[in-house]
Amino acid sequence: MVRIYTTSEIEKIARSGAILARTLAVLKKEIAIGVTLKHLDTVAREYIRKEGAEPAFLNYQPHGAEHPYKASICASVNEVIVHGFPTEYKIKSGDILKIDAGVLFDGMYSDSAFTVIAGKGTVKAQNLVTATRKALEEAIKAATPGNHIGDIGYAVEKTAKRYKVNIVQGLTGHGVGYGLHEDPYVYNYGNKGEGLLLKPGMVFAIEPMLCTGKGQVRQLKDESWAMVDKGLSAQFEHTIAITEKGPRILTKE
Ligand code: MF3
Ligand code: CO
Repeated sequence: MVRIYTTSEIEKIARSGAILARTLAVLKKEIAIGVTLKHLDTVAREYIRKEGAEPAFLNYQPHGAEHPYKASICASVNEVIVHGFPTEYKIKSGDILKIDAGVLFDGMYSDSAFTVIAGKGTVKAQNLVTATRKALEEAIKAATPGNHIGDIGYAVEKTAKRYKVNIVQGLTGHGVGYGLHEDPYVYNYGNKGEGLLLKPGMVFAIEPMLCTGKGQVRQLKDESWAMVDKGLSAQFEHTIAITEKGPRILTKE
């Protein structure tokens, strides 16, 4: 079932999303060569709680996972695309780092992620990050009433092609709000005018995940997902609402 949220429910998700946006801004400033992923996790947890909210990922059990997740952020490096665990790993120059976090506030979940290159990355890495950022921008533009969910996927696919990068297979965005993961799946590929008709009140976490390699993933022992061919990967994510006036980004300050 795809929920239709009321205007006041969307305002609540936006408050959760604003806390998350501020959290990610704090994390961006903490990222530096030599800093551990665990430190970023601690900063996120403490900041979210200072705002009177809860880290949504902490103790959350993703569908199909064997254990609840024991951190407040996912920190995924290079070929690891999502659900990387924030360990004592120290950030190195050239790493492509994906930080994904969620907030639970006043009963509402929000979900957002960004990618940065530590130090100076290769041209190839920079192109991938630019492509993925642009893919999210284009996907959000397609999230208007009257469009279909295929238009969102099509926008991601088209942007990936334009930058000559590929789509990570098998991982998708999702509905979000009362739950962290709700219906529908928001695919990063699709055909114009196909699939679910988009209506005001729908709230989605749109999360393009692009890569330099072929796109096949496998799950590692720590339950993170990594590119089989060890190619680079990038991800950007926003929680957005479809409104009468068009898409509204809820995970911004
Ligand atoms: N943002 C992640 C996703 O949409 C959620 C990670 S939940 C965790 O898949 F528990 F694994 F952290
Ligand atoms: Co998500």
